Amino acid sequence: MVWLSLDKTLGESLTRQVYLQIRKQILSGDLKRQAKLPSTRLLSSELSVSRNVVIEAYEQLLAEGFIEAKQGSGTYVAGGAYLEKGEAKGVRTRVPEKVVAVQRDIIDFRPGVPGLDLFNSNKWARLAQRVYQDASVSSFDYQAPEGIAKLREELAAYLQRSRGINCHGDQIIITTGATQAFVLLAKLFLADGDEIIMEDPTSLHFPAIFAGRGAFPHFLPVDDEGLVTELLPADKKPKLIFVTPSHQFPLGGILPVQRRIQLICYAREKGCFIVEDDYDSEFRFTGPPLSSLHELDPEHVFYVGTFSKALIPALRMGYMVLPEAFVEKCREIKRFQDIHTPALEQLILAKYIEEGMLERQIRRVKKIYRQRRDVLIQSLSDAFTDQVAFYGITTGLHLVAEFKGISLNDILLERLKEAGVQIYPVESYSFKKGLHQGKAVMGFANLSLEKITEGVRRMQTTIVG
Ligand SMILES: Cc1ncc(COP(=O)(O)O)c(C=O)c1O
Repeated sequence: MVWLSLDKTLGESLTRQVYLQIRKQILSGDLKRQAKLPSTRLLSSELSVSRNVVIEAYEQLLAEGFIEAKQGSGTYVAGGAYLEKGEAKGVRTRVPEKVVAVQRDIIDFRPGVPGLDLFNSNKWARLAQRVYQDASVSSFDYQAPEGIAKLREELAAYLQRSRGINCHGDQIIITTGATQAFVLLAKLFLADGDEIIMEDPTSLHFPAIFAGRGAFPHFLPVDDEGLVTELLPADKKPKLIFVTPSHQFPLGGILPVQRRIQLICYAREKGCFIVEDDYDSEFRFTGPPLSSLHELDPEHVFYVGTFSKALIPALRMGYMVLPEAFVEKCREIKRFQDIHTPALEQLILAKYIEEGMLERQIRRVKKIYRQRRDVLIQSLSDAFTDQVAFYGITTGLHLVAEFKGISLNDILLERLKEAGVQIYPVESYSFKKGLHQGKAVMGFANLSLEKITEGVRRMQTTIVG
């Protein structure tokens, strides 16, 4: 008799439990080839379940070749379904319950995550339904690599309204997140041995994209106003300069116009291009977004935006505004990457912008982010008094807090984690080490006010005692 134990309180259906348990016994050899399985009637009565539960489980095992039915004689374990146990190495095991419980409770100040609970998925779903219903049959076909014309037009108008960017839809390429725009630019401009200038500190992933093309990132320091343009090297011949002028990632500085001009003059003199990563400037708390670098010289700046912060990262929707001369080459590279970014999502997003929902959503969540930021600043100030200072608080989904005289080393970070709170040292985003000790990047957009105050309380107990 096969030995099975069903648990009706589990989320898993009874059919699946029967299927999985028999399958496991066959794979492990506990049920040998040609062993006869009990009839569905017998097994269902043994297990006190309806006969259909067992019939369906048997049908699945039959379909997958684990068992075979012999006319008039019953159901048997099929041959060749025993799998010798592999080495345990590399096999994933279930995480112990206790660890899961602790991890679930961690208050995570990870930067770069918008308020996921603030995305109105019902609204999006209703729009999606309308878009799918109204879509022409041809919209289900392959589409152009640069993206759906309607979205590019809506975006051009939106960028004009919100960022003063003067461009035509034909100069826009829709990308699978900003990340893909950087990959396209790396392919467009970089080859083995080329140089590129990047900010230090910077995002963790982007230097690898450029280095992956064989280019050498040359890191320039950042202060509270962003890239220190005075240090742009006269003796280098970079192909690209990667900057976050509206909200330096992660330190938060806003590049003043003098530095912007210096940067553009340098790019012109060197005959190179600037990549403007404008990832979260929609969320400027003290007024409308600042003007872009692109506006100053659209022929030398590739402007990259994303909906990962304004909406949600899972959409994987980004875009690039580029000088017309490069559009054709870029669309060809994009074609060989993924043909195009999912087109029906693009149609939904186009409608979302056309109907004013994007701007309404940004206005709505900006107020909430501002509250979250204020509560974070207030509770950190209460907890650490004059031992804490803040940077980059006027824009975006994160700020930088400096804990004076405190080294955010691995031991302290581990203790914080054990206390149920996670923060991210600026040093981990830095290539030149030792310049930002005590500074932490703290994302607040995806945490409720209660979580923020509780997170800071845990920090206080661990750090101050
Ligand atoms: C500095 C910076 N730019 C851009 C992005 C957006 O990337 P994506 O649009 O691919 O999600 C991120 C993501 O965290 C980021 O940290």
